[in-house]
Amino acid sequence: MSKALEGVRILDMTHVQSGPTCTQLLAWFGADVIKVERPGTGDATRGQLRDIPDVDSLYFTMLNHNKRGITLNTKSKSGKEIFEKLIKYCDVMVENFAPGALDRMGFSWERIQALNPRMIYASVKGFGPGPFQDCKVYENVAQCIGGAASTTGMIGDVPLVSGAQIGDSGTGMNLALGIVTALFHRTHSGKGQRVECAMQDGVLNLCRVKLRDQQRLAHGPLTEYPQYPNGEFGAAAPRAGNSSGGGQPGWIVKCKGWENDPDAYSYVIAQAGAFPALAKVIGHEDWLEDPQWNTPKARLPKLEEMFGEIEKWTMTKTKFEVMDILNPLNVPCGPILSMKEIAEEPSLRKTGTIVEVDHPERGKYLSVGNPIKLSDSPTDVTRSPFLGEHTDTVLGEIGMSDEQIAEARAAGAV
Ligand SMILES: CC(C)(COP(=O)(O)OP(=O)(O)OC[C@H]1O[C@@H](n2cnc3c(N)ncnc32)[C@H](O)[C@@H]1OP(=O)(O)O)[C@@H](O)C(=O)NCCC(=O)NCCS
Repeated sequence: MSKALEGVRILDMTHVQSGPTCTQLLAWFGADVIKVERPGTGDATRGQLRDIPDVDSLYFTMLNHNKRGITLNTKSKSGKEIFEKLIKYCDVMVENFAPGALDRMGFSWERIQALNPRMIYASVKGFGPGPFQDCKVYENVAQCIGGAASTTGMIGDVPLVSGAQIGDSGTGMNLALGIVTALFHRTHSGKGQRVECAMQDGVLNLCRVKLRDQQRLAHGPLTEYPQYPNGEFGAAAPRAGNSSGGGQPGWIVKCKGWENDPDAYSYVIAQAGAFPALAKVIGHEDWLEDPQWNTPKARLPKLEEMFGEIEKWTMTKTKFEVMDILNPLNVPCGPILSMKEIAEEPSLRKTGTIVEVDHPERGKYLSVGNPIKLSDSPTDVTRSPFLGEHTDTVLGEIGMSDEQIAEARAAGAV
């Protein structure tokens, strides 16, 4: 079976998380991804948060599967000559350096286009053009500048960042979409183009409903927020705890064992259509005849009380029992799954969403596989490259003789 992106060659200058997420996805779809790293040190994440001494960290291995790895000093004279050859050899160049780093190396977009007019040049930066365009940005900063932190957290409490890497991995996915779109465009334009994704934009795109709520505020209180009708609304879309964000009330409730298990909770949505079944199962059939309870409007000012009653019932069941009982009643709900439970879930292993990878130095470890499934281009996850593992092979492919490679090595270019 051929891979969807077979024949596409990617010059991967990425590091840390956002860029590597993008190129790993492209590699999973079959692109030949050549990861370029600085001789000696490589991607800083190789050494960060190491769990085993002197072995590439999980941070690195889990973001750089299916890639080839070369070392190259793109600031040295002979390194730049090799880099030029690589630009001519590849279809796409991807980078997420601090703003202006490639220009400082002497590789502006104009220069890249002159070297290879078919090249697609894709970048992640923290901000787009504007007052902050020169700033370096990491994940949690992106969550703050993109509107996620101000709208996440408990009411009256501090802003909160999420464990989901929406700035890094989220923006990496945007970049991958930009690249395949530009590749498709190239099939009729014959030309490459610039693809730019700002982390601020990527986070904001995921906070669309909060910009919706910001505008609704001008026309009155946000009735589905727990602040309504008893609390106050300020000038900006507020934090809303665990409320659902949609038109149906939802909350996180305790389940059996919550006293000792920090994840013994379930999310329950009290959707209007399924409310009679939910009320019956929790022992509140009386609500169905009571005008104080039997319409969504009547319940709205009493959501805390309602979820309190639901919780009395869920506390008598495990989170999985809650799922088993409520799902057939069409009550949307979900257990709060811990990373341990997810890692051990057999169905996720079966679909390749959780994969076990073997690494010659670290042995077997788990990783998140490709979340996007193509019927004719399945993903096989293979280990990340060692620093410079494929330098000689790739330099050979771009026409360098063994002698020239030895010279480049002696000059410290590779
Ligand atoms: C992530 C980030 C904050 C890290 O910053 P940093 O550790 O200081 O790393 P930089 O990107 O500035 O790169 C450091 C230097 O290494 C140089 N370098 C990188 N690879 C090189 C190579 N193969 N050969 C020679 N030099 C290299 C860069 O050119 C840069 O040099 P300069 O400062 O003289 O321009 C920054 O890269 C950034 O803001 N990136 C864009 C947003 C982003 O992706 N953030 C999320 C990361 S998960």
